[in-house]
Amino acid sequence: MNARPGPGRTNTAHADAGHTEPALLEVRDFQVELITDAGIIRAVDSVTFSIHRGETVTIIGESGSGKSTTAMGILRLLPDDLAVLSGTVLIDGVDVVAVPKAIDKVRGRTVALIPQDPMTALSPVHSIGSQLSEAIRIAGAASKDKGAVRARAIRLLEQVHIPTPEVQLKKYPHQLSGGMLQRVLIAIALASEPQLLVADEPTSALDVTVQAGILDLLLELQEQRGIGILMITHDLGVARLISDRIHVMKDGSFVESGHVQQVVEHPATEYTRNLLAAVPVLGPWDETPAGNTSQSASKTTAAGDPAALTSTGAQND
Ligand SMILES: Nc1ncnc2c1ncn2[C@@H]1O[C@H](COP(=O)(O)OP(=O)(O)OP(=O)(O)O)[C@@H](O)[C@H]1O
Ligand SMILES: [Mg+2]
Repeated sequence: MNARPGPGRTNTAHADAGHTEPALLEVRDFQVELITDAGIIRAVDSVTFSIHRGETVTIIGESGSGKSTTAMGILRLLPDDLAVLSGTVLIDGVDVVAVPKAIDKVRGRTVALIPQDPMTALSPVHSIGSQLSEAIRIAGAASKDKGAVRARAIRLLEQVHIPTPEVQLKKYPHQLSGGMLQRVLIAIALASEPQLLVADEPTSALDVTVQAGILDLLLELQEQRGIGILMITHDLGVARLISDRIHVMKDGSFVESGHVQQVVEHPATEYTRNLLAAVPVLGPWDETPAGNTSQSASKTTAAGDPAALTSTGAQND
């Protein structure tokens, strides 16, 4: 499968309006205050958005704008004594702000996290097989029988297009490439058959061709299973390839929200225009003499060129 050729998604069954099913994730006036040595920081300030089945909603913004705090707050992964949450976060209809314990029923089941850095997210001293099996057992989706767990682990690795899964199960994280490890993390997230994936910069540690392969995989899984995705990125190139809707975040608030095409083609704020201008593109090297070539291959096209992210499969990871 190839990365989508133009800006934005075109085949989505769901538009903003007209949903008949309730949202997988409904966030209203969500606020996170962090208690720090320097005082209280309102890292997330009155954020409202929703995600339905089969939709990808992206939060994009510069470093420190509050993207991860939003994602971690929604999943209740922030320490209760250091982060004060308010507002409403309905996951599969349950308010995890009002009822903190409710998250235990949905996290790792209805909703799963794909962490940012595959190198640090996996244990270096356990094999891929044992970490994947652990996730399968916790998810409770397969029988506890050893053979059944192994069969499920192999199937999950096949689903994320990891070649020779039986061989990879025996390996340790340091024996796999970054792209392969990110596929393993996605397989672990899929172990519980989640309806919603929260992906916090899932490709930012990867080079651009491997990144395209992982984005393709997420889109394929979404098309096959109707999974909703909350994507966190600082990269508008990633956002425009994968999103249905984009929310642009600055200093804890959304400064602009809309369909991906609208935001990319008609950015309403200077801040979004700057994010657009920062999208690097692959272009032909010009013949400028050495010493003056630094701008030739990147940051040359303000709007970026999604075709520059060519699709690759796992073999290039
Ligand atoms: N543990 C912490 N202690 C103090 N301040 C924090 C902590 N975590 C986050 N913050 C502050 O909260 C704000 C939002 O940070 P957050 O990590 O959510 O940003 P981000 O958009 O995810 O950035 P990045 O793109 O760098 O990941 C920032 O001002 C940050 O300094
Ligand atoms: Mg972050």
